[in-house]
Parts: sequence; C-alpha cells; structure tokens
Amino acid sequence: MPKVKTFYQCQTCGYTSPKWLGKCPDCGEWNSLVEERKETSRVSLPTHFRKSEPQLLSSIKACDEQRTSTGIKELDRVLGGGVVTGSVALVGGDPGIGKSTLLLQALSGLSRYGQVLYVSGEESPEQIKIRAERLSINSDDIVLLSETSLRGILDTALKLTPKAMVIDSIQTAYTEEILSAPGSVSQVRECAAKLMIFAKKSDIPVFLVGHVTKEGAIAGPRVLEHIVDTVLYFEGDRGHSYRILRTVKNRFGSTNEIGVFEMSDAGLREIENPSELFLLERPLNVSGSTVVAALEGTRPLMVEIQSLVSQTNFGMPRRTTIGVDFNRVNLLAAVLEKRAGLHLGGMDIFVNVVGGLRIIEPAVDLGIISTVASSLKDVPIDPKTFVFGEVGLSGEIRAIAQAEVRIKEASKIGFKRAVMPLGNAEKIKNSLGLEIIGVKDVEGTLEAVLT
Ligand code: TYD
Ligand code: MG
Repeated sequence: MPKVKTFYQCQTCGYTSPKWLGKCPDCGEWNSLVEERKETSRVSLPTHFRKSEPQLLSSIKACDEQRTSTGIKELDRVLGGGVVTGSVALVGGDPGIGKSTLLLQALSGLSRYGQVLYVSGEESPEQIKIRAERLSINSDDIVLLSETSLRGILDTALKLTPKAMVIDSIQTAYTEEILSAPGSVSQVRECAAKLMIFAKKSDIPVFLVGHVTKEGAIAGPRVLEHIVDTVLYFEGDRGHSYRILRTVKNRFGSTNEIGVFEMSDAGLREIENPSELFLLERPLNVSGSTVVAALEGTRPLMVEIQSLVSQTNFGMPRRTTIGVDFNRVNLLAAVLEKRAGLHLGGMDIFVNVVGGLRIIEPAVDLGIISTVASSLKDVPIDPKTFVFGEVGLSGEIRAIAQAEVRIKEASKIGFKRAVMPLGNAEKIKNSLGLEIIGVKDVEGTLEAVLT
C-alpha cells in the first residue's frame, strides 16, 4: 500500500510546508497554502532525464528550428516568426479576453497543413462550434475533444498525431498520478511537464491556455513559466476592443515583442498599424498630452502619454500612474523640481498611457517630463511634435537606441517635429523631412516642447 502524505503548498509560488501557514514565507502571499496529497512510495524521478554523453560544442550541428505560420501575422511575430515544431507555448490572460478565440483562429490557420486538435476542458463541443461559426471557421481538419484527463488527451493526440494541439485550459487538465485537485499547483506543474515531454518527443507544437490570478500572474506557480518554451500574455482593457499579445518569455525568439488585435464581432482582427489606432482619439492642442516614439521589441509605436497635474487637497500629494513605472514618475518629478525649478511638491500627478499600453523602456522619460510640465504650466504641446529620450538624475538627456526606426514611424503618420537627445540628433543621417531638435538637458527640452 502506498502511503499518502499530506502537505501544504502555496498556490502562488509552489512553496511546500508540512503544516498550514497563514502566510507563505517564500513569496509573502497570505492564505495561499492549500492542502495537497501525494503518494510517498512512488519515487518520482523526472522522466525526461536520459543518459547522455558529453559532446563538444563545436561538433554539434546547428539545425534551424522548423517554423510554420499560423496565418495570423501578429501571432507569428510574438512567437518569433511562427510556431516551432515540438514547442510548448503558454497563453495567459484574464477570463473573456479572447484566449480561446485566438487559439481557435490559430488552429484554423494551422489546419492548412493537416489535422489539428483542440482539447477543451471548459466548453462543450457545441459551444466551440458556435464560436467557430462566428469566426466563420469551417475547416474539416479541426478535431475537437472534450477531455480533462491528461492520459485521455495524450492517447488521442498519439493516435491522431495532429499538426498542432491546444489545451484549453491547463488548469482543467489532471493526471491520476497526483492526488491533488485539478488546478492545484502540483497538478498544473505535472501536467505541463508531461505535455512538454510529449511535445518534444512527438514534435507536435502544443499551446496551453493558462488562467490568470487576481494579481495578474498565471495561476499555478512560476515554475509553469520555467517549464514551457514560450509565455504569452493576452492583455486588454474590457472597455476597449483592442487586445495586446505580449511575449514574456521565448526560447525561440525575442521577448518584448507585441501583437495587436481588435476584437470584432467576427473574432480577432489583426491591427497592422497600431500607432494610428493609439493616436485616433488624441485631443489636439490640450495641455498634458504628448506623443512618444516608443519601441516594443523591434516594433516602433507612437503612443500618447497624458498627465494631469493639480493642486493636492490632502497633505500628501498623490502620484498615480497607469502604463508607466510609478517610481520612474516620482524620480522624474524630483528631477523636474530640482533641475527645472517646477514646483511639483504640492501637486497631485496622474500619468496615463493611452490605449492600455505599458511602456517600460527609458525612452518614455522625455514624454513624461514634457507632459507633466505641459499640464503644470497649462501649455499645450504642438500635436505634430513627438519626443523620446532618457532623463538622467542630473537633468541630462541621454541617447537611446534605434532613433532612426522611431523617426521613420513618426514620419509615416505625419509628424513634423522630433525632440530627442542631442546624442541621437547628431547621428541622424536622414531626417525624412522632419525638423530634428537635439536637447541636452531638462530645461532645454521644456523650452523645445512648450512653445
Ligand atoms: P474567449 O475567447 O472565450 O475568451 P477566453 O477564452 O480568454 O476566456 O472570448 C470571449 C469574449 O470575446 C466574449 O466576451 C465574446 C467576445 N467575442 C467577440 O466579441 N467576437 C467574437 O467573434 C468572439 C468569438 C468572441
Ligand atoms: Mg476560454
């Protein structure tokens, strides 16, 4: 008789403890430890360990990974140029954001190459059929399977040998070898590990749908992110119809790549020129609005940064940021105060990146100081002007990477004036008809943008 051992596992980070604890000592999460059980007699050696001989790096032949296109360019881009055979990709996102829709559309594209398998543990085949009809998908090569047992899923997959497979979702899958409930950390981790081995052995690419917890992490421990090859997050504002697919991890391509979609009544539509979309409703000649030429991966994006600076009503001024780093805004406010003499100490500052985007690269600094100064002084920034550049603590403006790409995108959309670090401005060979203004400190920047 195998002995069943009970332990408590943090559902956020995977920490285990023999006793229940109110707070996870590892990740600090409250009330996240859940009772799980496992059989102790079975020694669980990782099955993917096999004996291998040491070999010289120089003697190994590099083989190009084989990629197939999903027919959705934006998805191919975030995957690094298509689906890699035998890779496992995790797609996370809030409920109702469009994960199932995206993957059904991707499978429909992949069904050009042969049969594909859609495993759903959440919806009945009828429900999926209704969705497919909305998406006008009527391929004869999409096989549906309503199954949650991992053994059942793998048996079917081995029989069919599909060209690609989707598991919707990894939280509903379970393996009998683990006694814990489906969706628990041990189940999710074990199922993902088994699917990973399956994908590598069979060369079938697998997409996993992962639910997101309240805090925005993919439910299940971080280890899930370590197991799979690619982690994609599908984000978007419920109030808006556009969605952003973001690479968080990619063993076969660059991270920081994004794909932009719009949810329409016929499914997800690709947006090829997101800059235009993000600037669509921009108010012109209003203070506290500026456009930054940002870079997401290899992709230039013109985004509007808005700010509102107003007298604080409480003792402590409030700083609220959406889409940019909170600490960065505090730091830049201090730089403005000290180096440009702006009085922000008694002011509430709100900064927002329009369109639900998140921008973390330093090039956004110049945008933040411009919009904050514009709002404080109530002076609008010329709508045909855009900015980019990093701001240092002594108020200097530092050069950033890939200035030319940004200028090209801006000129495509019809911008006329670029305010950028002097270091970048001096190196620009082709200004594409734009007026280039190089600035070297915060004061110079404010002079250039607040005309
Ligand atoms: P879904 O793919 O089911 O989300 P997830 O799997 O991430 O939970 O998408 C659900 C939402 O998308 C739902 O609110 C309806 C909407 N939707 C459309 O607007 N148009 C469509 O063509 C489809 C299929 C869904
Ligand atoms: Mg779904």
